[in-house]
Amino acid sequence: MPYYPPEPFRIKVVEPIKLVSPAERRIAIAEAGYNVFALKAKDIFIDLLTDSGTGAMSQHQWSALMEGDESYAGARSYFRLKEAVEDIFGFKYFLPTHQGRAAENILAAVLVKPGCHIPSNMHFDTTDANIRARGGRPVNLVIEEAFDPANLHPFKGNMDLKKLKAYIEETGSQNIPMGMITVTNNAGGGQPVSMENIRSVATLYHSYNIPFFIDAARYAENAYFIKLREPGYADKTPIEIAREMFSYADGFCMSAKKDAIVNIGGLLALNDPAVFQKVSNELILREGFVSYGGLAGRDLDAMAVGLYEGLDEDYLAYRLSQTAYLAGLLREQGIGLIEPPGGHAIYLDAGALLPHIPHGEFPGQALAVEMYLEGGIRACEIGSVMFAHPDPDTGEMVYPRLELVRLAIPRRVYTQSHLDYLAQSLGKIIQRASELRGLKFTYAPELLRHFTARFERL
Ligand SMILES: Cc1ncc(COP(=O)(O)O)c(C=O)c1O
Repeated sequence: MPYYPPEPFRIKVVEPIKLVSPAERRIAIAEAGYNVFALKAKDIFIDLLTDSGTGAMSQHQWSALMEGDESYAGARSYFRLKEAVEDIFGFKYFLPTHQGRAAENILAAVLVKPGCHIPSNMHFDTTDANIRARGGRPVNLVIEEAFDPANLHPFKGNMDLKKLKAYIEETGSQNIPMGMITVTNNAGGGQPVSMENIRSVATLYHSYNIPFFIDAARYAENAYFIKLREPGYADKTPIEIAREMFSYADGFCMSAKKDAIVNIGGLLALNDPAVFQKVSNELILREGFVSYGGLAGRDLDAMAVGLYEGLDEDYLAYRLSQTAYLAGLLREQGIGLIEPPGGHAIYLDAGALLPHIPHGEFPGQALAVEMYLEGGIRACEIGSVMFAHPDPDTGEMVYPRLELVRLAIPRRVYTQSHLDYLAQSLGKIIQRASELRGLKFTYAPELLRHFTARFERL
């Protein structure tokens, strides 16, 4: 039997949830245009759409909210956050933003020019879209093992250094205003990046004078994977590992809604004073003054506390074991998933589970819809709905190599019995997998289409 770790907390406040009837679920999903983003939260029993902003804050974070200083400029809350950011990440300058994509937006506004290229292991959807929206080309150069769901490589989020070098040579470093890496690799299964890879990627970018930015949404989970899996790190604390990770970079953007366990917030930090001045001006134009970045003072305080809680070793041990437990339950039923399990989520291999549904009929979306119908569970497609796009040169549709459904686990929210229920529901679906049919778009916007697209069942 898979091991479930006792939670290193107890429950003080509860939020009721309800499983609405199968008939109500059928109506709700049809009204939502078979897009789970359009479902109402009241109609959902277990919500695994995202781990972003859905975590439960601690009593320390709630009490920090009461300390919030709502001064427009120079608030105490800003300085408390500044102290935490400097302590953990060590960059010269930082800006709070209202979430990760706001940090990406202001960075892209300053660095991305039409026709330029931005390599990464794998860009997440908002980073990808922010680069495209400025006329740049996001490029994904993760190692080949990332595309083999059964491969047990311990760091499947690693960048392929040979591919990266060849890409820089081919494109010309003058056309690459920054290089990135995402830790952990959300779009590729929540897989971690090793310290050795981060170091080598930094060295390579720097040998071409390309600034190196980390997309740090899940930096604490990545640090703990390094502790567990990379030789030489077993005796280091997550914060020490995080400090080393960031010491190789020129900056980072981050959604604090993940590992800082807050419901809203983001960060941008960097060392270059000229770039800092420009991003500050962008922030003031679009988000707010530099000492609050579109957030309330109390949000900054909750983030300052959450940054440390996300790095707590007992919490991280529980967090990664919880995901591993769910993976174990699914494995026992022969349900294909990306192995080894990631930190924040399980990624079901919908392409393998529904081989009769082609890319263009969205197997991941079909599975996500069925999970709602079966158990009131909301999950997120990470496949062709999210990532297929026309090639800018040929106009031909380029499909992602994997059709996934992500079961993102909110932090400190669901218990063992919720995960057991989820595994049982999936087991029932798998028994009738061959009867499932795909979907087609009835509406799709050009960018980030998964959020607002509507579908018809085939
Ligand atoms: C790796 C990664 N980068 C960036 C973002 C964007 O962050 P936000 O949703 O706070 O805008 C996300 C959100 O899911 C993410 O997972």
